[in-house]
Amino acid sequence: MTDDKIVLTGIKPTGIPHLGNYVGALKPLIELANNNKTYIFIADLHALNTIKDPKLIKQYSYEIAALMVALGLNLDNAVLFRQSDITEVYQLSNFLMNVTPKGLMNRAHSYKAIVEKNTAAGVDVDSGVNMGLYTYPVLMAADILLYGADIVPVGADQKQHVEFARDIAGYFNNIYGETFRLPEPVIGKETGLVPGLDGRKMSKSYDNTIPLFASESELKKKIMRIITDSKTPEESKNPDESTIFQLYSHFASKQEIEQFRQMFVNGGMGYGTAKTMLFDKINAVLSEPRKEYERLMANKAELDAILKDGAERAKLVAEKTIARVKKAMLG
Ligand code: TRP
Repeated sequence: MTDDKIVLTGIKPTGIPHLGNYVGALKPLIELANNNKTYIFIADLHALNTIKDPKLIKQYSYEIAALMVALGLNLDNAVLFRQSDITEVYQLSNFLMNVTPKGLMNRAHSYKAIVEKNTAAGVDVDSGVNMGLYTYPVLMAADILLYGADIVPVGADQKQHVEFARDIAGYFNNIYGETFRLPEPVIGKETGLVPGLDGRKMSKSYDNTIPLFASESELKKKIMRIITDSKTPEESKNPDESTIFQLYSHFASKQEIEQFRQMFVNGGMGYGTAKTMLFDKINAVLSEPRKEYERLMANKAELDAILKDGAERAKLVAEKTIARVKKAMLG
């Protein structure tokens, strides 16, 4: 063991992220990844309990890989791979089942939410629950422990799962001796700070998102649709209540933000002008990554090669962990 912290996270392939995900999770993740030893994988096995269409999982998986590379993930440093390419993760998951109390799974927020819904609807508590969903946290613990992760950056909804991984590592170590490092969750910035087109938090469930790699014309269209109040161009406007200003502030430099603020406060700028400035800014930041994303999506062989290389590097570590676990458990 060294003092260098190992960062690890999984991204479920469920469709192209939006600007809120970019600001709140992806951008900080790439910064962290480029400064630490990092494993980032596409959590396709975790998608299986909901997505039953293999073509869709494959397509979404390519999208995540292309996205991470396009956003500047340094592949000399970070290991980028597909979860399902490392079969050791299922082995470890099964081994961990034997030290994981069933009651722990019963307490998982995601499972409990379904039980509550079923209870309210008067149907069987486990209606619609498959074992993939029920044991989701064990597979996630296997992901984390297989690569000896110390730091696991996740959204707030995944914090409990990382805590479970820590618990499970603790149970294992208690029985079999020090085998696993104890991981810690790192929770990203509140994405609620990034407003969507209607001013509420940008979220798929509100249907108010701007896709990260929207084409230039789509991006423009979306931005022009941002809801504003009915102030005239001459009137002074409150930047802190403006979706346009808030979105701008996530992409511009300090100085640009200050200038934009003054334009709001001073009056004399219409919302149309403000929206054009916002479009120009976001487009300037994202146009290169978008081009690279599109280039990679048109070159699946290149993505395959990147993922193959990642899998080879990940596999070396996974094999060592499994060997240690087998020795610990089976002698
Ligand atoms: N469950 C996570 C999500 O839905 C994805 C994930 C799978 C993950 N395995 C992981 C995240 C391991 C961190 C570590 O977002």
